Amino acid sequence: MAKTAKEKFKTFGNVFDRFTIRNIFELSSRGFFEEGSLSPISIGKESNVFSAKGKNGKVILKIYRLETCDFNRMYKYIRNDPRFLGLKKQRRKIIFAWAQREYRNLFRAREADVKVPKPIAFLKNILIMEFIGNKEAAPKLKDAVPSNLKKYYNKIKRYTRDFYKSGFVHGDLSEFNILNFNDNPVFIDLSHSIPIKSPGASELIERDVKNICRFFNKHGLKLDYKKELKEIIS
Ligand SMILES: Nc1ncnc2c1ncn2[C@@H]1O[C@H](COP(=O)(O)OP(=O)(O)OP(=O)(O)O)[C@@H](O)[C@H]1O
Ligand SMILES: [Mg+2]
Repeated sequence: MAKTAKEKFKTFGNVFDRFTIRNIFELSSRGFFEEGSLSPISIGKESNVFSAKGKNGKVILKIYRLETCDFNRMYKYIRNDPRFLGLKKQRRKIIFAWAQREYRNLFRAREADVKVPKPIAFLKNILIMEFIGNKEAAPKLKDAVPSNLKKYYNKIKRYTRDFYKSGFVHGDLSEFNILNFNDNPVFIDLSHSIPIKSPGASELIERDVKNICRFFNKHGLKLDYKKELKEIIS
């Protein structure tokens, strides 16, 4: 039976403010997904992630919470990004810029042939992207260790190098932000990606490579992260 607007509001009401709910309805009325089909996947520090039924299969909604996200932390990261110079330190402005930045980063990654979810739309604090998975969302790399470690690592290395060569660093790369989809890596959570010319970018690429090497070494490889880093950035 179809729900009334009031009932729908109640469904989201515990999680989101009115402004966000209005934007969810707006995006669904534009045809990006069926409004009644939202189903929760994850609750993160800053965002809630849902799957929903889109026109051509499932989509993902990543919704940054307006009230409970740490916008001071976001501001610290985004103010170094030359694409967002002059951004005022106002909670909503920063959160909207953050969602928009992730959307743009997904495009840049795809241009560099890095496997990431296809960006579909953004509105204010909401980002819509391709659903990575079959029936269920693909597991994180940390929960689905690949059988051929070396081959899998090399794919991640190639993505990291190609993204770097195209002028970007992921910035938050680890086994938590890579999905293992049918034994292939898909990078997600590009909210920290910045151009390599930004202040702090060289620390980020070093940390990304270190994280990945640590994970693969834990599972049996013998990678020297300094050597790997050199090969990625040279
Ligand atoms: N496109 C996608 N397809 C399938 N699952 C996804 C997709 N995007 C995100 N997820 C799932 O949602 C989880 C959270 O997503 P993501 O890493 O982008 O946000 P987060 O870590 O909560 O962000 P924050 O840094 O704001 O805390 C992922 O670990 C993954 O399980
Ligand atoms: Mg994440």
